[in-house]
Amino acid sequence: MKTRREFVVALGAATVLAGTVPIAGCKALGESGEEVSANEDLMREHGVLRRALLVYALAAPRLRTDPASVSPAALHQTAVLFRQFGEDYHERRLEEPFIFPAVKGQSPELAHYVDTLLAQHQRGREVTDFIMSQTGGQKLADSRGLPDALDSFVPMY
Ligand SMILES: [Fe+2]
Repeated sequence: MKTRREFVVALGAATVLAGTVPIAGCKALGESGEEVSANEDLMREHGVLRRALLVYALAAPRLRTDPASVSPAALHQTAVLFRQFGEDYHERRLEEPFIFPAVKGQSPELAHYVDTLLAQHQRGREVTDFIMSQTGGQKLADSRGLPDALDSFVPMY
């Protein structure tokens, strides 16, 4: 497994097969009020976060070639969404307290990936801090480091 998505898919498969991760039996409500499994809910949340990362992936090359074509406000709003939904809710209130501890005991390989994901969460928060610091004004504060920061974030998810 090389990516977070591969891990999450493997996690979903592991929870279904093992049937021992408590959250696997939980239900959540989808956008239209339908019941969805915890695994489906988790994948949907990742879908939201991947859309934010699409903004980063598209902005990075434009920042290198035509920085004036990138809206600082759009990048800032994306970073705020990632901070509030991705980091403060999805990571801190769901994955880290409930999913990761349940997964860690499943196998040494999964425990290793959880440690890697925790390190990626921390690094992602640092990158989000940087993106927010560079995009909070009317103009980009320093476009030189921003494309690399955006590019570094995308593969972590
Ligand atoms: Fe996640």
